[in-house]
Amino acid sequence: MHPFADSTLTLLTSGYAWAPGLRRRHGDGPAVPARLMGRPALLLHGPAAVDFFYDERHVLRHGALPGPVLDTLFGRGAVHTLDGETHRVRKELFTTRLMTPDGVDDLGRLAREHWLRTVDGLRGRRAVLFDEMAVALAAAVCEWSGVPVADGAAVRRLAEDCVAMVDGFATPGPRHWKARRARSRQEAALARAVADVRRGAVALSSGDRPTVLEAVAAHRDADGTPLDLHTAAVELLNVLRPIVAITWFTTFAAHALHHFPAVREELRADHGRYARAFAHEVRRCYPFVPFVGGLAARDLRFDGQDVSEGTLVLLDVPGHHRDPGLWPEPNRFDPRRFLGREPGPGELIAQGGGNARTGHRCPGEDITVHLLATLAATLPGLGLDLPDQDLGIPVGRIPTRPRSGVIVRVPSRSRPEEPAA
Ligand code: HEM
Repeated sequence: MHPFADSTLTLLTSGYAWAPGLRRRHGDGPAVPARLMGRPALLLHGPAAVDFFYDERHVLRHGALPGPVLDTLFGRGAVHTLDGETHRVRKELFTTRLMTPDGVDDLGRLAREHWLRTVDGLRGRRAVLFDEMAVALAAAVCEWSGVPVADGAAVRRLAEDCVAMVDGFATPGPRHWKARRARSRQEAALARAVADVRRGAVALSSGDRPTVLEAVAAHRDADGTPLDLHTAAVELLNVLRPIVAITWFTTFAAHALHHFPAVREELRADHGRYARAFAHEVRRCYPFVPFVGGLAARDLRFDGQDVSEGTLVLLDVPGHHRDPGLWPEPNRFDPRRFLGREPGPGELIAQGGGNARTGHRCPGEDITVHLLATLAATLPGLGLDLPDQDLGIPVGRIPTRPRSGVIVRVPSRSRPEEPAA
């Protein structure tokens, strides 16, 4: 293909294969020119690219995300789209509340409790792990964040809506329209919840810290004004939705444990350090975020290439994790590569690079790793059986997952070694 032919259709049809294909055609270099959505683009790869991309003097976010992605995945006015001081002040809303060890532990405990309760409710039946885990995570995050939900049906609806918003962001057609409807419904419900808090219609939390709902309701932006109700709902969803989306990683975890029995045995034996290493390896090996993107802040040069202001700059995420120059035996699933150590900021970029407090790196990374490790550690002891099914992970679908969602048969009784609820 001509380097400057528009790749949008190819991206839509080849999914995760698009970036590696483009890089291969250009000699696997660290900067490959392309055209996407009618504008010039540059696909960056490698550690130097991570540093370059996460320098705000190089890449800005305002105007970078296409409307269809905002209307499904992130929401209009989301923190993802802000730069400079405005971004930093909005980001504090997330970092002060989401990145505290106590908050992360509380959520991990709740997620484990809800998941084990879900499994108990499924005894003697078959279920789709992806779907059930999403509901358990939705129940946990509502309890943790103070977001009111009327009943179990409302929790299930929230779980389905959060999944739909992620599932439909990169695809035209029915999945996309479902995602838009899901976002509209949840934004309306959460805006009502924020309004209720502001007019004192709900009791404030009794704990020593405000809940996430209260923190969003009280937040003031860099200009000193509170968030309007729509933006408040958008940012609340930017906590709820990605926590439910951890179901993608836990489903990949179940997939890995099925395919690598030795890993399953190691995880059964060590729920602590090994589980955390396992969580990192799942994030490294399984495809979720295809790339992150922004716009060149001014005329720049990277790796000998001119990058003109306004160019769409994309950072390759899955390719980074499979680069043989960065990872010994990159295609081997081996949690031990992370045993007893945390990956460096530019090493594992499944949730972005750079600094979470000052840049755009995901503020929910600790939550993700902790919940993934905690939930994955329950799996080997649950006695789940996987009947014949299609566990293939289609590369052309963004976001992808095992086609079956991982169907499990839950034993009628718990096994003696099963972790206590
Ligand atoms: C499910 C697993 C998750 C994945 C794969 C993921 C991935 C990412 C990525 C790639 C970014 C963007 C980095 C960039 O633009 O440079 C991001 C940003 C963000 N994530 Fe996550 N994330 C996950 C979980 C979470 C969780 C659990 C939360 C909150 C509880 C969260 C909240 C956010 C927010 C608010 C941002 C915007 C940060 C900013 O623009 O400054 N994410 N995430």
